[in-house]
Formats: sequence, structure tokens, C-alpha cells
Amino acid sequence: MAPPPLIQLKDISLTFGGTPLLSGVELSVSAGERVCLIGRNGSGKSTLLRIAAGLVEPDAGSRFVQPGATIRYLPQEPDFGEHKTTLAYVEAGLGPGDDHYQARYLLEQLGLTGEEDPAHVSGGEARRAALARVLAPSPDILLLDEPTNHLDLPTIEWLEGELESRRCALVLISHDRRFLTNLSRTTAWLDRGRIRQIARGFGAFEEWRDEVLAEEEREQHKLDRKIVNEEHWLRYG
Ligand SMILES: Nc1ncnc2c1ncn2[C@@H]1O[C@H](COP(=O)(O)OP(=O)(O)O)[C@@H](O)[C@H]1O
Ligand SMILES: [Mg+2]
Repeated sequence: MAPPPLIQLKDISLTFGGTPLLSGVELSVSAGERVCLIGRNGSGKSTLLRIAAGLVEPDAGSRFVQPGATIRYLPQEPDFGEHKTTLAYVEAGLGPGDDHYQARYLLEQLGLTGEEDPAHVSGGEARRAALARVLAPSPDILLLDEPTNHLDLPTIEWLEGELESRRCALVLISHDRRFLTNLSRTTAWLDRGRIRQIARGFGAFEEWRDEVLAEEEREQHKLDRKIVNEEHWLRYG
């Protein structure tokens, strides 16, 4: 039997005001699985990741996390809170029993000393500190919203190698196509409130999406013809 998912969202629906953002969305992530979450701007990717992180309550649906599984979430905009140094901020993300050395080690790997004042860091430094914070505890599940934003190419490559070498499950949102192609093994596509998933990485996404859309169009044509026929029959018998 397949192991139970580490995290499972079932039948998630959420509306902010007007049209539903998410309707009946399912997402399940197993140990070591690497999912990329794709969709247009505004399709609800960040919101769905926040639901997975337990930070947003959907209107309907359920969220299951395997007991004991640890999750870390990288928001699009990190919030440093009251921390005086980047090291204090990263250490505050550790769980009980986690190795404090990892905080220093990852900051150093990411080109930070740990002494930086979060109030005066650049966008790139902020993103690197936020990455150190989610990586240091070695969580079972990493939820990453645009992890490569503000990073230079060597750091993106370092991050790719780091994530590649870890066994944690990943859910990735990114505009960086190469990053997604190299890392993802599963693709979840959010489109008009619904989600579709294939067991292939981002490299297969565009061809698959075009097929899905073409099939949808064929179905719509059939439906339109049926309606025309029925109207004809109603009018003329
Ligand atoms: N807390 C909120 N209140 C109202 N609207 C929101 C809230 N969060 C997100 N939205 C809206 O939901 C839509 C989807 O946002 P988001 O999840 O950030 O999409 P994506 O990450 O795919 O670009 C946007 O139109 C956004 O303005
Ligand atoms: Mg977003």
C-alpha cells in the first residue's frame, strides 16, 4: 500500500468577494515528492500554498498533515518580526532539538554573516536569510513561494543543488522555468479555480496544458452543437 501523504488538502474552496478563487481543489504531497504549482498571476497559487501551510482557512474543505511531519513555508515577502540579527531570525525558525549549527552554516553558505540587521538588508539578503530559516530545520515538507526572487544565478544554482540533495517533499511556486524543470517531478496546474495534476515535471507542462485546453474546446463544441440541435428540435420538432 502507498504510504499516506504527508500533507493532503481535500475539496478546498475559497472565495474572496466575487468569483471563487478555488473550488474543489485537491492537493496531496507524499514523502520526497517534488511538486511545482503552476498558474497565471492571480490564479491563487500563493493562497493555496498558504492554505497548505495552515495560514489561511479555506471556506470549505479539509487539511490533513501527517502527525509529527514538520513543515516550513517561505512566503513571497519574508517578515523579520522583531529580530535584531539575521542569525536570531534564522535560529527562531528552528524546532526543539534542531541543530543550531545549521543556522550558522546555511547563513554562511548563502553569503551572510548572521550579524546583518534585518531592518537594513537588501531584497537579495532578505530572501537568502528567509531561505536559511526554512532550510535550517531540515523539515519534511518545504513550501516555497518564489524562492529564486532577488537571487543571483550562483545562488539559484546553489539552492537547486541543495534542494536536489535533500529528501524532503517540496511544493514550489516559481517563475524560473529552468529551476522548475530541474527540480519538479509532479506538476499541479491551477486554472479558473480548479486543479489538475500530472506525475511529470514542469518540462512536460506546456504540451500537457495545450492538450487539456484543446480537449476542453472540443467538448465545448460538442455541447454547443447539442444545444443548437435541441433548440432546433424544440422549435420545429
Ligand atoms: N486575503 C485576501 N483578501 C482578498 N483577496 C485576496 C487575498 N489574498 C489573495 N487575494 C486575491 O486572490 C487572488 C489570487 O491571489 P494569489 O493567491 O496571490 O495568486 P497567485 O499567487 O497565483 O498570483 C488575487 O486576485 C488576490 O488579489
Ligand atoms: Mg503568488
